[in-house]
Amino acid sequence: MSVQRTLAIIKPDAVASGKIGPIIARIEAAGLTILAARLARLSAEQAAGFYIVHKARPFYGSLCAFMTQGPCLPMVLEGEDAIQRWRDLMGATDPAKAAAGTIRKEFASSIEANAVHGSDAPATAATEITYFFNALEIH
Ligand code: RTP
Ligand code: MG
Repeated sequence: MSVQRTLAIIKPDAVASGKIGPIIARIEAAGLTILAARLARLSAEQAAGFYIVHKARPFYGSLCAFMTQGPCLPMVLEGEDAIQRWRDLMGATDPAKAAAGTIRKEFASSIEANAVHGSDAPATAATEITYFFNALEIH
C-alpha cells in the first residue's frame, strides 16, 4: 500500500438532492483527506472529454447529458490506498448491486444517476485530477 490521490466527483443527482454533506462526512470519517474541491457545471464538451473512454458505449450520450444537468463537485482525495478505499465507499456502479452501507446503495437512484465517481487506477487518477485541478488548487 502507498499514499495515493484519487479524483472523486459528487455527481449532479446527489448535489441536487442535497447529499454533499453526508457524502463528505463519509469521506472524512474514512480518514481520506480532501486536498481540493470546487462546484463545477460541466459543459457538453467537458463531460464528453472526461468520459471519452466510454465513447463507444451505448450509454455515452445519456451519461454526458446527465453529467451536465446541474453542478457537480469534483474533489481530490488523498490517503493510504485512496483509489480502492474511495471505490469501496462508493459501492458497485449499479445501486441495485451495491453493498449495504455504500454511498451508491444509500444515495443513487439508477445505474446512471449513481451519485459519485471515483478514479479506477493510478494512471487514470493522475489524468482525471489534472482534468479538473491545477497544481495551485491542490492543497
Ligand atoms: P465512475 O467511472 O463514474 O466512477 O463509475 P464506475 O467506474 O463504477 O462505472 P463505469 O463503468 O466507469 O461507468 C461510468 C459511468 O457511466 C454510467 N453508466 N451508465 N446505463 C448504463 O448501463 C451505464 N453504465 C454506466 C454511470 O454513471 C457510471 O458511473
Ligand atoms: Mg469508471
